[in-house]
Amino acid sequence: MVEKVLITQPIDPQGMLLLEEAGFTVDVWPGPEPIPDAVLRDRVQGCSGIISMLTDPIDADVMARGPLRVVAQHAVGINNIDLNAAASQGVRIGHTPGVLTDATADLAMALLLSTARRIVEADHYVRDGHWKGWSPTLLRGMELNGSVLGIVGMGRIGQAVAQRAKAFGMKILHHGRTSGCDLDTLLAESDIVSLHCPLTPQTHHLIGAQAFERMKNSAILINTARGSVVDEGALVNALERGQIAGAGLDVFEEEPTVHPGLMANSKVVMVPHIGSATLSTRRKMGEMVATDVILGLQGEPMLHEVKS
Ligand code: GLV
Ligand code: GLV
Repeated sequence: MVEKVLITQPIDPQGMLLLEEAGFTVDVWPGPEPIPDAVLRDRVQGCSGIISMLTDPIDADVMARGPLRVVAQHAVGINNIDLNAAASQGVRIGHTPGVLTDATADLAMALLLSTARRIVEADHYVRDGHWKGWSPTLLRGMELNGSVLGIVGMGRIGQAVAQRAKAFGMKILHHGRTSGCDLDTLLAESDIVSLHCPLTPQTHHLIGAQAFERMKNSAILINTARGSVVDEGALVNALERGQIAGAGLDVFEEEPTVHPGLMANSKVVMVPHIGSATLSTRRKMGEMVATDVILGLQGEPMLHEVKS
């Protein structure tokens, strides 16, 4: 019997080719928006594998409808997948760590530099015709050399950000589950706080009103992890009250909806969840999920299987 794989958004063509060569029937939701929930639940029927995006709710019902044997998630973060349901239904889960580490760390640095040096504000200033000549006080920002970067979550991405920040002369603090300083110390002492932990029940709203009270008034928050690691309402309040000075955000609590208080604030730099969006990383991610769905369905060891 030919096995069927649902792909919930078009992935790199090389990944598609691997699946076709392996003889699978492939059903691709054409995008460019995420697959609607009802369509996902309909089209997953009869599929033994799925290549899922971080926007897809892969819950007990979706897995049972396949019935799925393998989920290969086109992302490193897997908070959209019910791992307990996967374990009880015997569904194998793959994801894409490693290949997106550098791209995501680069984007964290891009947001860090953009907020510290007010790049978006400055760009608007030039475009909007406000530039009347050089000035010693124009658009002054934060000096990175000698500033303290607090990294929350010292996994692969956190470490790659630390490596980059050291090259800019920053001092590094980190807080992790098994190493580093406590979170309160990190928040109090950092000039920039960058989040690199997964979203779990323990990290949900890890950065909320209390955290913003502890942070320096001059501090900048960078989030390339998951929106809900931050209490977005509390972030808006902290920015409006001047408890912190700015934020660089790749991720949001209700993507693609952005809190109006963030939209209205020129101290916030925002990009639409593009941490891993380089051509070469997205190619590697596409190949990795295709390979993992094939290996998983063949009962072989997967490249990156999540232990449940
Ligand atoms: C993107 O956010 C990912 O988890 O890969
Ligand atoms: C993800 O790749 C991480 O471990 O930070």
